[in-house]
Amino acid sequence: ILFSNDAFGQHFAVEELYNDKANQCLLMKEALKYYVNILNPFSMLVAKKIDEIMGMGLNISMICPSHGVIWRDNPLQIIDKYAEWSKAYQEDRITVVYDTMWEGTARIAREISHELSLQHPDTVVKVFSVSKSDKNEVMTEVFKSKAIIVGSPTVSNDILSSMSGWLSFLKQLKFKNKKAAVFGCYGWSGEGNRILKERLKDAGFEVIEEEVKSLWNPEAEDFAKVKEMVAKI
Ligand SMILES: Cc1cc2nc3c(=O)[nH]c(=O)nc-3n(C[C@H](O)[C@H](O)[C@H](O)COP(=O)(O)O)c2cc1C
Repeated sequence: ILFSNDAFGQHFAVEELYNDKANQCLLMKEALKYYVNILNPFSMLVAKKIDEIMGMGLNISMICPSHGVIWRDNPLQIIDKYAEWSKAYQEDRITVVYDTMWEGTARIAREISHELSLQHPDTVVKVFSVSKSDKNEVMTEVFKSKAIIVGSPTVSNDILSSMSGWLSFLKQLKFKNKKAAVFGCYGWSGEGNRILKERLKDAGFEVIEEEVKSLWNPEAEDFAKVKEMVAKI
């Protein structure tokens, strides 16, 4: 029996305790959410530890984490998943994350999503407003994505505080091997896009030059910029 403490856990309660008694879809969703939001920064250590444990050639009959299910049915399945997740895991997905005050930046987000579906029909695209979404769910989508597109209007020579907080959390999770692009509305000084780019670079993302920067409300010329940006991401 492996008493793994935090590793292989979830924030998930199952009355009958064991993994085979859980709804499998929910269980794996929660196991991934836990990995992304808590263990992703330690992915290199996770990969090393898994190699070490597997190298011991132990016959593991049960894994008992400090929270979540007890893995008794095929306990190696969660070790296999961790091995996959810890090596810069990626799917053909792009996630759009934004916040807005008067909906202008939201309209650009929706246009980006529409353009992505035209230019990249096989790519799974999800759009999140940070003020209306669970931040751990959003990070799980970022983890699965090959690129993210991030938007905020300019506010008081800065970005919205909701986006600023979200970008701090993004940096903490130490994602690797992902591209990013930015967009947003402004009224006069327009620092928002530059700040978004700096924060994303600082969080380890490869940020592309192409952007959408719209004075007050997006117009046809801004939507033309969406096409260029989506072609480069
Ligand atoms: C409280 C407040 C502060 C703002 N500060 C700035 C600013 O410093 N520089 C700027 O260019 N625009 C500023 N703006 C203008 C907004 O960026 C502009 O209204 C933008 O179109 C809002 O985008 P949204 O529709 O996505 O909320 C400010 C607006 C508000 C309400």
